[in-house]
Amino acid sequence: MVSFRTLLPMLALLATAECTINWTRCDPVQFDSSTVPVPFQCGTLDVPFDYTSHNSSEKLTLKLVKAPAPLKSKGSILFHMGGPGLPNRGDFSTVAPTLIPLTGGDHDLIAFDSRGTVDTIPLRCHKDPVQQFRMFMNQQASNASETGAAVLWARGAADSAACAANAGPAGSVMTTAFVARDLISVVDALDEDGMLRFWGFSYGTTLGATVAAMFPERVDRMILDAVQNVHEYYHAQANFEEWEVSDQLFSTIFTSCIDAGPELCQLAAYNKTAEELETAAWELLDTIKHQPIAIGQLVKMWPTVVAMIDILAFGGEGPLETLLGSMPVINITATNTPTLVSGDNALGGIYCSDNQVRTQNFDDFAPAIDKLYSTSRVMGDIAMGSYMRCQQWKIKPKETYTGSFDVQTKNPVLFIENVHDGHTPLKSAYNVSSGYEGSVVLEVDGYGHGSTAAPSACTLRTVNAYWANGTLPEAGTRCDRDIEPYMLGWWPEVFKEAGVNATWINDE
Ligand SMILES: *[C@@H]1O[C@H](CO)[C@@H](O)[C@H](O)[C@H]1NC(C)=O
Ligand SMILES: *[C@@H]1O[C@H](CO)[C@@H](O)[C@H](O)[C@H]1NC(C)=O
Ligand SMILES: *[C@@H]1O[C@H](CO)[C@@H](O)[C@H](O)[C@H]1NC(C)=O
Ligand SMILES: *[C@@H]1O[C@H](CO)[C@@H](O)[C@H](O)[C@H]1NC(C)=O
Ligand SMILES: *[C@@H]1O[C@H](CO)[C@@H](O)[C@H](O)[C@H]1NC(C)=O
Ligand SMILES: *[C@@H]1O[C@H](CO)[C@@H](O)[C@H](O)[C@H]1NC(C)=O
Ligand SMILES: *[C@@H]1O[C@H](CO)[C@@H](O)[C@H](O)[C@H]1NC(C)=O
Ligand SMILES: *[C@@H]1O[C@H](CO)[C@@H](O)[C@H](O)[C@H]1NC(C)=O
Repeated sequence: MVSFRTLLPMLALLATAECTINWTRCDPVQFDSSTVPVPFQCGTLDVPFDYTSHNSSEKLTLKLVKAPAPLKSKGSILFHMGGPGLPNRGDFSTVAPTLIPLTGGDHDLIAFDSRGTVDTIPLRCHKDPVQQFRMFMNQQASNASETGAAVLWARGAADSAACAANAGPAGSVMTTAFVARDLISVVDALDEDGMLRFWGFSYGTTLGATVAAMFPERVDRMILDAVQNVHEYYHAQANFEEWEVSDQLFSTIFTSCIDAGPELCQLAAYNKTAEELETAAWELLDTIKHQPIAIGQLVKMWPTVVAMIDILAFGGEGPLETLLGSMPVINITATNTPTLVSGDNALGGIYCSDNQVRTQNFDDFAPAIDKLYSTSRVMGDIAMGSYMRCQQWKIKPKETYTGSFDVQTKNPVLFIENVHDGHTPLKSAYNVSSGYEGSVVLEVDGYGHGSTAAPSACTLRTVNAYWANGTLPEAGTRCDRDIEPYMLGWWPEVFKEAGVNATWINDE
């Protein structure tokens, strides 16, 4: 017989097991402390599978990773690095060495893989893995041929039907509203002050804007960085505004190349104007119908892009194979294929379920295609298949956030936007900020997607003060960049210069 004395501790143990996070050392293969010098800890948390079903006890296990504060922790900050659909823990862990100094070293930094991604109830649109893979690979550019757009539209219909047929119950519980509730569940499980501290990048800003709108009283500190226009994300046929300055940024690859000079950027050696260089690059791209490159997201890759153009368009020196070898390539293998495919499916499961517009037929979507093409020559086509799939999405989510984005949060939100971000323009940051009472936009005069892509001592000071004391910059503050495009140097140099504790940047 079980006595009370043995039963009570058992019940207590059950209770803790359910609502606290048991942090242990991470699997060293997954979070390798030898390549990223952070002693990561991992944990899990069971949360409701379906928050809308009050009679259900079905659980979903979230997987979390933590970069422990090097100093005494003043509380945890949760992160979302963007997507949607990307592996958040993995993306967070690679940026963690930069995020630790940026948050002052006195917070635990935490990220979890959100619903629908990696192996947390991944969306499965096909039972057969070969079909699954085909769905991922068959998304050609809509402008690749005269019939490309119509074919892509038909593909979108087929894919969304397949997802609806095979997703099962998981398909209807992976909207951003559910992830917002998961964030609050994590805050509750951490058992600190019950308040949310959050830093979101790109799609992570949509998640942040949503959780702040659903739980305004829970907001202690929140940075929304590389800001998506949340209104378009939920209520437009496509994210048009995201590409408004992409072409301008494409041009910047060439103007800043000339500014950097031939020592740092080889194309500058041809005595051509930036305009001539760009024209040559376009001729090249049109010839090979190249997939658009991720402008602004990978500023550090500009030298490689430029070297490639040099070889292909100007017959410059250097074996192309070596150069291509130095670019991060997607290596399609039996082991990583599920990850690649699951990222694409997850994007559908999350974005398509969040988006509240549906378009009945191809002709009604045609104006959106024209608008995307005229918004950006370089990026207008890149997400076309995804938009078309969403417009024909058939899974009905259990909960979608349909409310307003005019929000009075308990404490004000800090928005950050790089002035030269080819993916999320400054305009979007001001748009969303205007709905969040007391919020301020910090402009960073840097290149790339997110403030972490633009090393700046001023950004360091400003975000440190916000995390430490809630101090907001004056409206209209613009931080200078400290590293020019094509120059060597990155955050560690900025940290050193600013006197950041050397042990945090692995530089004693
Ligand atoms: C925490 O996890 C470790 C390793 O998995 C395990 O040995 C330990 O019993 C767990 N503790 C609790 C309270 O669940
Ligand atoms: C749970 O509630 C739903 C309606 O919200 C109902 O359809 C379902 O039958 C209930 N399930 C159980 C096990 O009570
Ligand atoms: C630097 O950080 C370490 C922990 O990583 C801490 O022990 C040390 O006291 C810090 N040094 C200073 C000067 O704050
Ligand atoms: C570029 O111009 C400089 C100075 O006008 C000249 O010395 C150099 O030879 C030119 N280079 C090329 C590749 O034309
Ligand atoms: C790609 O995968 C193959 C087979 O596993 C491997 O031999 C090759 O080195 C990989 N290439 C890269 C760039 O990782
Ligand atoms: C689409 O392709 C046509 C023909 O190749 C070209 O003229 C047009 O500029 C392209 N549009 C975009 C946005 O790439
Ligand atoms: C924000 O963007 C949405 C969608 O483009 C637009 O409808 C709205 O008017 C904008 N709001 C402000 C304040 O600019
Ligand atoms: C926070 O405020 C205190 C007291 O005013 C100040 O000493 C400290 O430097 C501030 N911290 C940061 C990071 O700005």
